[in-house]
Amino acid sequence: MCRPPRRARSAWSSRVPPAFSCNGSTARRRRARDPCESVRSTAGAARVTPASGVANVALPRLSAGSRGDYKWRGSLPMRCPRCRHENRETAHFCGECGTSLARGVACPHCATVNPVGQRFCDSCGQRLAAGGTADRTREPRAYTPRHLIEKILVTRGALQGERKQVTVLFADMVDSLQLAERLDAEEWHRLLDRFFQILAEGIHRFEGTINQFTGDGVMALFGAPVAHEDHARRGCHAALHLMDELRSYASGLRAVGREFAVRMGLNSGEVVVGTIGDDLRMDYTAQGHTVGLAARMEQMAQPGTVYVSEHTARLVEGFFTLRDQGTPALKGVSTPVRVFALLGVGPLRTRLDAASVLGFSRLVGREEELAWLDGVLARALESNGQVVSVVGEAGVGKSRVCLEFVNRCRARSIAVHQAHCPAHGASVPLLPIRELVRSFFGLGDGEPAEVVRQKVADQLRAVDPGSADALPLLLDFLGVPEPDAPAVSPGGHERIAAFLRRFVRLRSASEPLVLLLDDAHWIDRESDALVGELVAAVRGTSTLLIANFRPEYRPAWTGGSHYHQLPLAPLGQEASRELLHELIGSDDSVGDLSDLVRERTGGNPFFIEEVVHALAVSGSLAGERGAYRLTAPLESLTIPATVQSLLAARIDRLSEEAKRVLQAAAVIGKQFEEPLLKTVVGLGDHDLAAALGGLQEAEFIHQVSPYPEPQYVFRHPLTREVAYHAQLGEQRARLHAEVAAALEKLRVDRLGEYASLIAHHWDASGMRFEAARWRRRAALRVSSIKLGGRRRMQPR
Ligand SMILES: Nc1ncnc2c1ncn2[C@@H]1O[C@H](COP(=O)(O)OP(=O)(O)OP(=O)(O)O)[C@@H](O)[C@H]1O
Ligand SMILES: [Mg+2]
Repeated sequence: MCRPPRRARSAWSSRVPPAFSCNGSTARRRRARDPCESVRSTAGAARVTPASGVANVALPRLSAGSRGDYKWRGSLPMRCPRCRHENRETAHFCGECGTSLARGVACPHCATVNPVGQRFCDSCGQRLAAGGTADRTREPRAYTPRHLIEKILVTRGALQGERKQVTVLFADMVDSLQLAERLDAEEWHRLLDRFFQILAEGIHRFEGTINQFTGDGVMALFGAPVAHEDHARRGCHAALHLMDELRSYASGLRAVGREFAVRMGLNSGEVVVGTIGDDLRMDYTAQGHTVGLAARMEQMAQPGTVYVSEHTARLVEGFFTLRDQGTPALKGVSTPVRVFALLGVGPLRTRLDAASVLGFSRLVGREEELAWLDGVLARALESNGQVVSVVGEAGVGKSRVCLEFVNRCRARSIAVHQAHCPAHGASVPLLPIRELVRSFFGLGDGEPAEVVRQKVADQLRAVDPGSADALPLLLDFLGVPEPDAPAVSPGGHERIAAFLRRFVRLRSASEPLVLLLDDAHWIDRESDALVGELVAAVRGTSTLLIANFRPEYRPAWTGGSHYHQLPLAPLGQEASRELLHELIGSDDSVGDLSDLVRERTGGNPFFIEEVVHALAVSGSLAGERGAYRLTAPLESLTIPATVQSLLAARIDRLSEEAKRVLQAAAVIGKQFEEPLLKTVVGLGDHDLAAALGGLQEAEFIHQVSPYPEPQYVFRHPLTREVAYHAQLGEQRARLHAEVAAALEKLRVDRLGEYASLIAHHWDASGMRFEAARWRRRAALRVSSIKLGGRRRMQPR
């Protein structure tokens, strides 16, 4: 029997970030296939078993939608393991040969298939999922982690029928048919179980969702149904992690003479999420080649490698190491697409790192904030430890201000230790704390285990000679346990907390410290608790602890006399102008563009940078940074995919009702009145107040006047645009019609004044006749006003 190789794990090892790597196998290149063909051609070989149990799953049907889009429809008939007859999905026995289709429960540890009803694995003793049956495991719901199920189902109503920026991942077993032929049914079955288990675990780890089992692999989405602003990075992390896990599984199989390899492909683009069933099956329509191109990438990849399209590459550049594979001909794809091999994690970790590689724009408009931070630092240096949080909307410049500040501290020879919380941080707990501890001990990236052990031991001895017993714990925490050391006993978290408290106190006794926690809105629960310990520990020391985060994160450790908050507002007009001047230049052709960008981006420096970058990439701007020329007249600006994903992900974190209200408000306009909104969304006073409260708290909107009718305005023009455009045309049209009808009712005494607005909403709803009627009324009003005015001006 072949078993997955077991890997030695330390007390913290399940939490240690995976060593991302990817080998470049030279095995034969697989014949490129049509994406439709790839799915259909393997249909006969569909012996697919979801990871957490046993089920036979047929391949998704791929049908051409309108405009050449692809439409997948989940269809999972039950294939008999014995005669391969395709049975109805609900079948318990094969209609052809009578074989039971409920065959057992796969052990999550060793993948042995155990009889249904058995509580422990009869091979390794692991507890089996209670009552797991083949029928249940055929549903995506059965292999999706509970927190993701809840997230999707709670907001399902709001997720359906939306456009989403996603990254699609295809993973496929190489030469699965030949392998299946060489194995007996049971062994093949076990292999597939383990294979799908690894895939599911790796994909869910980075919050992807498996949309389909494709016979000998899977198709997964990152960024849908729930949006993620870093969907492409998550997809790449997942692919590297999976390759790592699958390679170690393959080496175990090779030891018993089985050749096993997997290839993967990724592409990023837009999909429209269709209906999401109770079982989490999702219908979606991919726009253009989003899915087909991901399948092509996978088909082109060498066994054991991951290929990504240029669309994904653009989003992850610098964060991952890529090798250019040129622009091979891709069947069915007329415009050349550059292909890259994904090799490993790159040198950049944060978006700010990426910006610094491109060359930071000169910091504008933050002198007051920096001076204020200097003041707090001065207090901390007098052994009066301080804690500051810098809070502001996404992209407003929190990380940049903090970076400028800590650079000034370094220039004054003040020791700075910093840690960053990555957006996928919740899937790999304790990353920021580990980074902070590494910084305490002066550990560089990729240092050999021996060097790490030596440095930690030396530093610990120098700073805290009395805590030598913390050494094994720290080494274990950093993922480099002493080879012969006994296992670290449970209770590690409390001991790490105690170490952090003690270390900060001792260190700051000899020199002042600045600790920076960047992008704390992504922090995981375990790290958050440890930051709470640090916040308490800095009191009475020469330490300044700064954290920056978005307003939606509300840490438990705020408050107290040594705590301060620095709210960061968008850049003012002058600073925005300066930044745009720095980015675009002052050519005559870009004068209006500069104003347009400033208006649309509302002083958010990240949005400003991204809009300018997107214009340069699309060719609308020619020349170079700081000296661009506009090459074509600009009627409108498209929202860059990066900004779209960021805002869509924020919107998806709202409650279903708040999101519905935001979408309706986006249809009404930049500014909206509560009674009109209430008529359109049809919510009761209490629910509407709760939704509006949530939207204000999350800083999507703010109230501009409470009386006579409460009026609100979108804080950011782009939020409104994303909330508007993510909805399907049909839904928008319906809402426009409702707004028009509501205006007719609510403005019955001022219809003339509102005629052109009502006409606009009827127009957008597709009701041309109504629109024309109201336009005429608006025109009559205008002419009567002019006429009246002229009459008044005429001498009597
Ligand atoms: N005052 C400024 N002057 C010039 N450029 C700025 C300024 N503030 C921010 N930027 C630039 O804008 C981009 C976004 O800034 P930053 O990453 O600091 O935003 P953030 O608020 O931390 O965003 P997030 O909430 O996503 O973490 C960066 O490239 C940064 O260099
Ligand atoms: Mg930031």
